[in-house]
Amino acid sequence: IKKIGVLTSGGDSPGMNAAIRSVVRTCAFHEIECIGVYRGFEGLIEGDFKILSARSVNNIIHSGGTMLKSARSKEFMTKEGRQKAFLQLKSVGIDALVLIGGDGTFTGGLVFNEEFNFPIIGIPGTIDNDIFGTNYTLGFDTALNTVVEVIDKIRDTASSHKRLFFVEVMGRDVGHIALNAGVGAGAEEILIPEEDLGLDRLLESLRRSKKSGKSSSIVVVAEGDKIGKNVFELKDYVEENMEEYDVRVSVLGHMQRGGSPSCFDRVLASRMGVKAVETLLEGKSNYMVGILDNKIELTPLDKAVKGKTEINKELLRVSDIMTT
Ligand code: F6P
Repeated sequence: IKKIGVLTSGGDSPGMNAAIRSVVRTCAFHEIECIGVYRGFEGLIEGDFKILSARSVNNIIHSGGTMLKSARSKEFMTKEGRQKAFLQLKSVGIDALVLIGGDGTFTGGLVFNEEFNFPIIGIPGTIDNDIFGTNYTLGFDTALNTVVEVIDKIRDTASSHKRLFFVEVMGRDVGHIALNAGVGAGAEEILIPEEDLGLDRLLESLRRSKKSGKSSSIVVVAEGDKIGKNVFELKDYVEENMEEYDVRVSVLGHMQRGGSPSCFDRVLASRMGVKAVETLLEGKSNYMVGILDNKIELTPLDKAVKGKTEINKELLRVSDIMTT
């Protein structure tokens, strides 16, 4: 392998830049050329490439977003699109790719590998932490810190006005952000798709907490939770059934994806980038680099895509006990 391409695709996440930097510098260390592919698979199809030297990635370790930009490409889902991408790669002599993204990115990569036998390695970059084969995805830790910081602020106003706040957080179909940030921010209840609390039990719990002397409450709701049709309907339902509460909703949205990565995400990104390049240099393909029990490990990419992450049951119990 003489030339490695690197791209970021799907939703951006803090730590992607640190991972790009690591891939580029590891290539430079091993005296291999590194090519940045801009705008994910879209840029791959259009040949939006730029040579990246060790100095091209100065001063990016601390910045959020991705210097390579990102996209969710529809064209790459077609055979013609992937054919164009393959021809672009061949025309500049890129012979392996590091894909930084989530399961959509990896699924695209797997199909591409199957069709063209093109070597690929994945680095999990998403705030959702929903990828099998790694305890942490890049950006998850930073997103948790962002959410906790914001909920701390909401708590100030909630307690001043004796209000109940529903705070909706991201996470797509899983509740990892909600559960971890909820415990970290001392939420009264945490609603996640993996555990159906039910509206009756929610009301019961809120009544209990009111009786026990709490005058304000924060309920963290994962965007994928199905307890109400949406968080605003949940507010209406609680207001109808509990007149004693003045309820507000705060949907945190995309701010959760931005910001400077935490030290944890920077270190993780640096470790994953080294492993990704060195795995390709060993002649391996179709793996995802992950962190398991603080060791950098490889998981076959198809397993990473098909496997499901599990919610931390112990943390769920901690959360229940903390609401006493
Ligand atoms: O996967 C990351 C994520 O931020 C999810 O938490 C969220 O559901 C989704 O992306 C939002 O996607 P978009 O930025 O395309 O609206």
